[in-house]
Amino acid sequence: MKKNIGPVNALYPMPVVLAGAIVEGRANFITVAHVGIFRHDTVALGLGKSHFTNRGIAEQRTFSINIMPDELVVETDYAGIVSGRKVDKSTLFEVEYGPLRTAPMIAAAPVSMECALLDVLDYESHEVFVGKVENTFADESVLRNGKIDLAAVRPMLFDMFQRKYWRLGEAFADCWSAGKKLRGESAG
Ligand SMILES: Cc1cc2nc3c(=O)[nH]c(=O)nc-3n(C[C@H](O)[C@H](O)[C@H](O)COP(=O)(O)O)c2cc1C
Repeated sequence: MKKNIGPVNALYPMPVVLAGAIVEGRANFITVAHVGIFRHDTVALGLGKSHFTNRGIAEQRTFSINIMPDELVVETDYAGIVSGRKVDKSTLFEVEYGPLRTAPMIAAAPVSMECALLDVLDYESHEVFVGKVENTFADESVLRNGKIDLAAVRPMLFDMFQRKYWRLGEAFADCWSAGKKLRGESAG
């Protein structure tokens, strides 16, 4: 039997993203690993209430999610250790806007999503911002047959246990397919 190590949230790795919002009239970016999907068109960000970004998302009712590649580790980590309340993070990146107009996106991120705020869940220490993905922008270089190719994106993954950033390994099996073997069918 495995050892009980207490109520440790073991759901890592998670992708590390930079969420963008307009706060006090300027673009601000926050590093977020507690980001999730529970429906294809919907994303959720778990943000501590003390963060500067929260107010901007609540006021503008929009935010962006930028998938950060491994070569931007320094900037990605930096956005997670300084607050926009003290440091102007709007000049860290070239910023672009899409049709929502108030969700600042990072030009250097190979994939960015513009999201419209649907709901805010209020917990004691955190707020969960639930957003609908309205538009997704992908650099041509990371598209294969019109779809996002993770090998080209090289997303950073977050490991809370060892406090490390990881890279993806290799794809090794097909989803909705590998299990067919146990139904007596050939996978493929
Ligand atoms: C790798 C990494 C992951 C982080 N993930 C989260 C997160 O999921 N939720 C959160 O509230 N803060 C997270 N943080 C902390 C915020 O990014 C950090 O406090 C940031 O400075 C807040 O910026 P702001 O005050 O400009 O909004 C993370 C930081 C790092 C370095």
